[in-house]
Amino acid sequence: MPSYNLAIVGMGNVGRSLLRLLISKETDLRRRYDIRWRLTGVATRRTGWIADPDGLNPLAALHGHSLIQHGNTTQPRNLREWLEKTRADVLFEATSLNVKTGQPATEHLRTALELGAHAITANKGPIVHAYHELTALAKEKNRQFLFESTVMDGVPVFSMFPFGLPATDIRGFTGVLNSTTNVVLTEIEKGRSMEEAVKRAQAMGIAETDPTADLDGWDSAVKIVALAIVLMGVNVRLEQVQRTGIRELSEEKIRSVRAAGMRYKLVCRAERRGDGVDCSVQPEILLASDPLASLEASSSAIRFDLDVFGLSFVEHNPGVEATGYGLLADFLRAVRQ
Ligand SMILES: NC(=O)c1ccc[n+]([C@@H]2O[C@H](COP(=O)([O-])OP(=O)(O)OC[C@H]3O[C@@H](n4cnc5c(N)ncnc54)[C@H](OP(=O)(O)O)[C@@H]3O)[C@@H](O)[C@H]2O)c1
Repeated sequence: MPSYNLAIVGMGNVGRSLLRLLISKETDLRRRYDIRWRLTGVATRRTGWIADPDGLNPLAALHGHSLIQHGNTTQPRNLREWLEKTRADVLFEATSLNVKTGQPATEHLRTALELGAHAITANKGPIVHAYHELTALAKEKNRQFLFESTVMDGVPVFSMFPFGLPATDIRGFTGVLNSTTNVVLTEIEKGRSMEEAVKRAQAMGIAETDPTADLDGWDSAVKIVALAIVLMGVNVRLEQVQRTGIRELSEEKIRSVRAAGMRYKLVCRAERRGDGVDCSVQPEILLASDPLASLEASSSAIRFDLDVFGLSFVEHNPGVEATGYGLLADFLRAVRQ
């Protein structure tokens, strides 16, 4: 029965939700897939690099307890040394998004692949800034670079296309792809202030500690670019996305639109034009009859316009475990190839 060494960098909402799922599904993974795992590395900004090739205590890692417990646990000085000490078969990257550079997440994934580990990320930055490089490196090393959880968490938007929809051409897509802003807009409709609504999204584990990327539309813009690069095969840059967030919307306006039977949603759009793709994200007032208008709280949805038919996905009210699930599903995809 194969056993895999797992290393996780980033132990916030997402890293912890992955670890919770790995623990709760441990027996299931063994029985159904003959897969065992061992947590050999954990790293965060505050705790630094922690490694133990014999295995760290996953419950201690989950609850933020000290992991420095016995002789083989070490605190390497840098990423490469850490990954070598963990003897990782798989690196999970769940650090904060840096929209401008995609770092240090890209460096984490690159080093993991160089050292022969599968590289799995919830962080969208590396797709926008280094998709082609990391994909080529993974191919050269006969390893997987996977990122399903970056858009709509566990919904298989990326992995569906090569196998489930071969030879289709995506002409464009429309969607609500950012859970935080959907929670915030829904809460403001109910009478909360913008600040209270953001706190609610943070308490749900959906908003990152710093919600700027969500509120200003950066998170949505990065998702649009990731989908366009990976699924539409175009080299769109982040600056080419017309981007407006929800910060400037007044609470009164949001509530009055709702009272009139319509809703504000932060809508993402991409449309093929010649060799390129026009991309935008902005708050739009939607009629009640629009399927996107019915999305509540953390729900998200996308409609793909294919050359052969239209296809929609709706993710109903995901919590942070949905993102953890996306990472877990990528783990199974990587090691069961
Ligand atoms: N939350 C969601 O629902 C969701 C959904 C899909 C994708 N994502 C993506 O998943 C990633 C993580 O999100 P999150 O909600 O878990 O964020 P979070 O709760 O803010 O946690 C971020 C984690 O990354 C660590 N970190 C940040 N910079 C680091 C660095 N340079 N080196 C090592 N560790 C570093 C932080 O360490 P410290 O705690 O020590 O600072 C923290 O453990 C982001 O890229 C986000 O865009 C999130």
